Parts: sequence; C-alpha cells; structure tokens
Amino acid sequence: MALERTLSIIKPDAVEKNHAGAIIARLEAEGFTVKALKRVHLSRKEAEGFYEEHRGRGFFDELVAFMSRSPIIVMALEREDAVARYREVIGATDPAKAAEGTIRKLYGASVGENAAHGSDKTSTAAREISYFFAGYEVSPTASSAS
Ligand code: TYD
Ligand code: MG
Repeated sequence: MALERTLSIIKPDAVEKNHAGAIIARLEAEGFTVKALKRVHLSRKEAEGFYEEHRGRGFFDELVAFMSRSPIIVMALEREDAVARYREVIGATDPAKAAEGTIRKLYGASVGENAAHGSDKTSTAAREISYFFAGYEVSPTASSAS
C-alpha cells in the first residue's frame, strides 16, 4: 500500500491541557511521520473556512467558537493508509463512544471538545493540508523526492 498523508489537528482543549506532546508521541509510535507542523490561533473566519462543509448545521457556531478560542497544533502526517489509520487512532467523534485507548477517549471531554481532528478521506486531506500549509512548508512526497 502506498504512503498517504492526512491532516491532523490537536484542538484547543488538548493544547490548553498540555496534552500535545503525548498526542504527538502516540502518533509517532503508531507509525506516522510528521511532514509539517505549526501552532496557530485561528480567527473565527479561518475556522469557518476550514469547517465550511458543516455550515448551517446546529453545532456550527459552537464548533467555530471552540476552534478559534485558543491555539491549535496542525500537522501533515504520513504513513501507509494514513487517513483511515489516523481515524482509528483518534476514535469516534464522540469520546463517550470512542474505543478504549483512542486519543479522543483518552483526551476528549465531549462531542464538541474532542481533542483531535483528522481528514475523512484522501481528497479532503489534500484540501485540508493546503488550507494550512504552503507547498514549501510540506516535505516532498516520496515519489517526488530526489
Ligand atoms: P464531523 O466531521 O462529523 O466529525 P469528525 O471530527 O469525527 O470528522 O464533525 C466535525 C466536528 O464538529 C466534530 O469533531 C465535533 C463537532 N460536532 C459537534 O460538536 N456536534 C455534532 O453533533 C457533530 C456531528 C460534530
Ligand atoms: Mg469530519
């Protein structure tokens, strides 16, 4: 299976509680390589743009307020089957329903404040990585590396 990339966000709740280091260590232990990383504090508009697909849903305003309340850590991660494997490691959207040992089970408090984001498919991952990182900030893919 080919190497793939996904966008990972350590959300405000987990950064505020100083869980970022533990989460990054866990992701490295799970075989993900950090290809790009930064800490940013989103404006409301930037959070709205990132979650554009959810505009109009009942939780949208709360989601945008949460994601823009304090800094997040954003990463482009690489491994085989990265999108699906990453979502297994973070667990279900609602921490109460997430499997034991998953990042959302360990660090999430509620469906709204669930510690981590991950892209839901490879096409979404490409859009999400380019939302946060310019081309020069992301290491070349294995196929384009010389
Ligand atoms: P979604 O893309 O459905 O979940 P995931 O993050 O697992 O891909 O929703 C995006 C975020 O919106 C989710 O992480 C938390 C928030 N959210 C709520 O606050 N309430 C909800 O009922 C849902 C579905 C999501
Ligand atoms: Mg989603």
